[in-house]
Amino acid sequence: MLTLIPPIKEYEKEIFDFKDEMLSFGDIEFNGCGRLEQYSSFEEWKDHLDSYADRNKMDPSCGLVEGRQYMLFDTEKKRVLGMANVRHYLNDFLMNLGGHIGYSIRPTERGKGYGTLQLKLALEKLKEIGVNDVLVTCDDDNTASYKTIESCGGTLENKVYSDKYGCFIRRYWINQ
Ligand SMILES: CC(C)(COP(=O)(O)OP(=O)(O)OC[C@H]1O[C@@H](n2cnc3c(N)ncnc32)[C@H](O)[C@@H]1OP(=O)(O)O)[C@@H](O)C(=O)NCCC(=O)NCCS
Repeated sequence: MLTLIPPIKEYEKEIFDFKDEMLSFGDIEFNGCGRLEQYSSFEEWKDHLDSYADRNKMDPSCGLVEGRQYMLFDTEKKRVLGMANVRHYLNDFLMNLGGHIGYSIRPTERGKGYGTLQLKLALEKLKEIGVNDVLVTCDDDNTASYKTIESCGGTLENKVYSDKYGCFIRRYWINQ
């Protein structure tokens, strides 16, 4: 069974196997992975994730908004297929460039429909908390990502140039 679940200690080995595969394929951006690339133990990564899991307990200067980390997990194979970071509201940066949801599928599992499934399941998490208008963004030339967004019903609002990323960013809204 494929399911979108929060990261748990029980799957620490599988989580770091996902990280190692991303690195071995040179995928250093770790989109939607909650900065997993910066951590080498589950506890440290979880502390970071917990630091922005509740808007009432956050450091206002941290620059993040309340959000949750999820992973697309194959319960039979015990394998992390992907990661999705779900933000509960938008700050200026997210409204312009980052959007409500960031995501990655591990390199060896791409092109099999998992990206679309993961985005659909991440959208459900937002729907559960009453977020019906969801912004999802990607680089203008990231065909796999914009097709994923379009498969989930995304409507392109515009493309904005980002000095930070040195490219145009597509901004899509998904109304659910
Ligand atoms: C973007 C990403 C999550 C897509 O995941 P995926 O599992 O490969 O996506 P799917 O298999 O569900 O395919 C989704 C759509 O993209 C298309 N697609 C997938 N890989 C593609 C590729 N390399 N080139 C062109 N189209 C591609 C599929 O055909 C499908 O389109 P369709 O619905 O019109 O048939 C994955 O490529 C990834 O992790 N990329 C690196 C991280 C990243 O870019 N994250 C997004 C940042 S905004």
